[in-house]
Amino acid sequence: MAERKQRAFSGIQPSGKLHIGNYTGALKQWIETQHSVDGIYCVVDLHALTSTEKTSEKTVVDQSREVAALYLACGLDSNASIVFLQSEVWTHPYLSWVLETQVPLGWLSRMTQFKTKSSERDSIPTGLLTYPLLQASDILLYDADIVPVGDDQKQHIELARDIAQRFNSAYGEIFTLPQPKIGMDGSRIMALDAPTEKMSKSRALLSHGHGIGIVDEPDAIAHTIRRAVTDSGSSVSVESAGPGIRNLLNIYKAFSGETDNELTTRFDGKGYGTLKSDLTDLLVEKLAPIREEYHRVLAEGSFLDEVLSKGKERALQISSEKVALVMESLDISR
Ligand code: TYM
Repeated sequence: MAERKQRAFSGIQPSGKLHIGNYTGALKQWIETQHSVDGIYCVVDLHALTSTEKTSEKTVVDQSREVAALYLACGLDSNASIVFLQSEVWTHPYLSWVLETQVPLGWLSRMTQFKTKSSERDSIPTGLLTYPLLQASDILLYDADIVPVGDDQKQHIELARDIAQRFNSAYGEIFTLPQPKIGMDGSRIMALDAPTEKMSKSRALLSHGHGIGIVDEPDAIAHTIRRAVTDSGSSVSVESAGPGIRNLLNIYKAFSGETDNELTTRFDGKGYGTLKSDLTDLLVEKLAPIREEYHRVLAEGSFLDEVLSKGKERALQISSEKVALVMESLDISR
């Protein structure tokens, strides 16, 4: 019998402007492995309800369609992978509730993301605390073996694994134990205006100079890189670069595929201006086809709707079988 392909699941929140970190940390990995794994990629719009920042005049559904269009524009093949919107598949919040009844509160309150995000808000919605359970449901419903994500999601994927283990030891082998898959390069791109902070979607919309959008126009890319914070020196040393130059080099590395040795040959001893202008050229070249395809997919519209409808049906089919198994194991099904 043919061995089952590894199954990959991942998702992005439609909560702002998708940036080059989302590309190098997540999308690029999905596309590189799409023909060797069985991939399921979701636009996690229910998760996005937990963010308060009004980052756009657009509705959540318009932003969700844009994120799905970007998945396709980056090269995700909808014949090879399932692409769908989380809110259209009822099993996700359903399993999340079941997990709420099983997972100790302490497991959620110690999550780094919860601590950071809740400290920034006066009134903390319960969904911010239970967010990782919805994320665990996303993953566990499909028996995902691997979850290709950026470095910041590691803790949430490890929690999903702990939850699966706990559930299995209480009720039998129901869930596959997932593993985070974090790429070697580009798994943590920093902000261009503050290279000790992570580049973030919501801030990328609010402040110019923070991040580079995947579909930014060439002059916007050039402008942001020109303004990017560097180190205090003036010429590049790959080995001893500080945070600003290290970040620019990391971005160059993730988009060019070059090794540290190649970067050293290319940039050591050159001025910061050369690094910035070479990086601009590289990003403009790599992002142009994605931007064009993105606008084409959105303008055409009906293809995107077909992909999402087909994705919804397949996601429902797989995940409702898992829910049935869960309910049976809890002795709650008729
Ligand atoms: P989100 O929407 O914040 O980010 C989407 C993906 O982009 C990665 N990422 C980055 N990678 C490198 N550098 C950065 N600066 C950077 N910023 C973001 C993230 O690691 C992620 O892979 N909780 C998730 C969404 C989610 C999910 C899931 C992911 C919900 N359910 C199930 C995987 C599986 C999130 O907020 O990602």
